Amino acid sequence: MSGAYGKDLERWIPRLIAVWREARKRGDGPETRLTPQEVKEVGAGVKQLSLGLTRDRKLAGAKYMDDPKLLGAYLLFYWPVSYAQAREALGELPNRPRTVLDLGSGPGPLAFAALDAGAAEVTAADRSKPALTLARALAAEAGEALATREWDPTRKAAPPEGKYDLITMGHVLNELYGAGDEAVKPRAALLEQVLAQVKPGGSLLVLEPALRETSRLLLKVRDEMVEKGYAIRAPCMYRGACPALVKESDWCHAERDWPMPKVVEEIARAAGLHKESLKMSYLMLAPKGEGWPEPRPERLFRIVSESLEGKGRQRFIGCGPEGRMGLAMQEKHRTEKNERFFKLHRGDVISVTNTEAKGDGLALDDTSEVKVVAYAGKGVPPAPPTPLPSGEGKGEGS
Ligand SMILES: C[S@@+](CC[C@H](N)C(=O)[O-])C[C@H]1O[C@@H](n2cnc3c(N)ncnc32)[C@H](O)[C@@H]1O
Repeated sequence: MSGAYGKDLERWIPRLIAVWREARKRGDGPETRLTPQEVKEVGAGVKQLSLGLTRDRKLAGAKYMDDPKLLGAYLLFYWPVSYAQAREALGELPNRPRTVLDLGSGPGPLAFAALDAGAAEVTAADRSKPALTLARALAAEAGEALATREWDPTRKAAPPEGKYDLITMGHVLNELYGAGDEAVKPRAALLEQVLAQVKPGGSLLVLEPALRETSRLLLKVRDEMVEKGYAIRAPCMYRGACPALVKESDWCHAERDWPMPKVVEEIARAAGLHKESLKMSYLMLAPKGEGWPEPRPERLFRIVSESLEGKGRQRFIGCGPEGRMGLAMQEKHRTEKNERFFKLHRGDVISVTNTEAKGDGLALDDTSEVKVVAYAGKGVPPAPPTPLPSGEGKGEGS
């Protein structure tokens, strides 16, 4: 999926800049770029947001969207990042959603990502009025129809009524109900309530930062949901308790190359941040009553680590229906049928044959076959229908 939405994202840059300049009532500057003074100003806001949202976490749950400087920084830096993350995740949906509700929308990156991915009716909901005002201004700038609503689950301000093909929650769950394990149950209860508004066949997409703490809390929420009987559409194929929670030092996140806009690159530099790749943790949940996908006939693993290449061998951590384990192959075993193993990316789903249990993982050799079943950012194709035993299923006249 990486990059397929690059042109769409590029079209948003002048809109984001125009809306930001309009909001701060200083409109001079080139359409598609920030002036050096503007980059400096936004960079300072991004530095503050980054510290408060990803390091000391003092801004998590605070009303930073109501501070014009921070909202501006969000719009020009985090908005494109969230938009790209959403486009990556939406690529894994089993079907194209028509009606979408974006909860905790802020100025709407996920809402607009859904519109660009083909949704027809999108509602953005947040507790921040200034953020929703910017979302509406962006919609006007783009000539898109976007409904907005105020929503705050901690104040029992209910989401809009009705049912949706897709509900998205981008980087909001980690800001609700505290910062530690006490947040897990209320977050799961909220997801359950939200899932009641997802139509059959639809999905709830939760995006979260790729930090260890926030990712692990998301995995704990995942386990609560699995325990309650909900199926995960992506990224998990393992149906039990998340194996990444066993060791305190582990967590699970996605990482993708992305078409980073130049303005984001400039702001990152001004803020002293490194933002080469797109990192996120995410969960795609199915509504109640929908089971996990039919297991495929092959032995599947999703690559959940970077390449852990060592001397003369390639190694990854894989996670699949059997759980999470190391997958390793020595360079000398490379053949035409398994060489894909040496070029995998985090998020790819592969099928493997002929493995041998070794240590806490599996060793592949020159008899093993490795195939990519789904590249990172694409959904795993459904299992082919099992052929009926010969003679069965042949109705009259067939
Ligand atoms: C990090 S921003 C995410 C914005 C956007 N969804 C994205 O992914 O870029 C978190 C959003 O959650 C909203 N939020 C935080 N606490 C909230 C609450 N109690 N009720 C409603 N929205 C809340 C904030 O106003 C903010 O817009």
